[in-house]
Amino acid sequence: DAADKGGWSSFMAKEINEQPEAIANTVRGRIVGDSVEIPELTALGDDRLRGIDRIIIIACGTASYAGQIGAYAIEQWARIPVDVQLSHEFRYRDPVLTDRTMVISVSQSGETMDTLMAVKYAIEKGVTTVSVCNTQSATIPRESDAAVYTHAGPEVAVASTKAFTAQITALFLIGLHLGRVRGELSAEALAEAVQQFEELPEKMRAAVDTHAEITQLAHWMADTRSVLFLGRHVGFPAALEGALKLKEIAYIHAEGFAAGELKHGPIALIDHGQPVFVLVPSPRTAPLMHSKVVSNIQEIRARGARVIAIVEVGDTAVLPYADEVIRLPLTDALFEPILQVVPLQWFALELSTAKGLDVDQPRNLAKSVTVE
Ligand code: AGP
Repeated sequence: DAADKGGWSSFMAKEINEQPEAIANTVRGRIVGDSVEIPELTALGDDRLRGIDRIIIIACGTASYAGQIGAYAIEQWARIPVDVQLSHEFRYRDPVLTDRTMVISVSQSGETMDTLMAVKYAIEKGVTTVSVCNTQSATIPRESDAAVYTHAGPEVAVASTKAFTAQITALFLIGLHLGRVRGELSAEALAEAVQQFEELPEKMRAAVDTHAEITQLAHWMADTRSVLFLGRHVGFPAALEGALKLKEIAYIHAEGFAAGELKHGPIALIDHGQPVFVLVPSPRTAPLMHSKVVSNIQEIRARGARVIAIVEVGDTAVLPYADEVIRLPLTDALFEPILQVVPLQWFALELSTAKGLDVDQPRNLAKSVTVE
């Protein structure tokens, strides 16, 4: 057992650490020179891909947050409207589906019953189905028109980590492929995104290396009963994922919010000492969002919040208002959640450990939910 964990104290720790390779393996073979080509999508035929006028991403839990992040990238690069729906809600709303709709399911296991039933419903309605899956030959990819596998390797811990960042990676690649085929992406924009992917594994290693400082932070916060997470744009689903991790394995009340939503209600929760993680967008590549998030930090700080800011290296604007600052390498704003989620994964793991809990096998949960 200890050998399977590769010297780590838990599968989750091992899997967090494996993320640079998981991403490199998911990208491998899909970048050709300065371009992106996913053979499984090519096999669907370019005319079919050009005809798609709407994408619906269906998934549950962590996979749905990957879907939400992927949606921003697909819309930006392929200019196709994208909705994200929870698999178990999808068919009950009598969704508008045509032969020009593409349904992309996201599932680590490929066996989640809620998602499988949603995919079967979509197939019955005659839409194009694409599966983003981590498990070779699982039921969902076998049922779908195309399978775009994430090559994260087997994920054993109940709490998903490397599958999540690999899912975002795969969805981004799908967005670039569609953008290229549909003529929506300039060669420069494509080359720039390719460059981001090439640099990503090394940056991911730096994100993994925040472990020591996060362990220290979790140690100080071992008695915390509630934690809030704020993000904007792609940082919002990453905030939701940070909160889910903490609930799942440390049994701590946690909520993620869109930073702009605070003043519409949740700010009433802020009391003296309330810990709030804030995912701060890059001031270089997203200056407007950055300044808005810095204002959000000022607002919660003035009401007593204890602010833990996750920023890109060199961002000094937050320093006067943050109690703790976690620094990550520079990257394009769209790619930031892939890095930002890593310290949040470590935080949940270390708080769970500090509470003496079983990190890999949290109560009441199964790795793959095979009932509806
Ligand atoms: C993640 O930490 C969770 N255990 C859970 O939300 C999971 O992502 C969800 O059940 C979906 O699983 P799947 O990716 O295998 O479909």
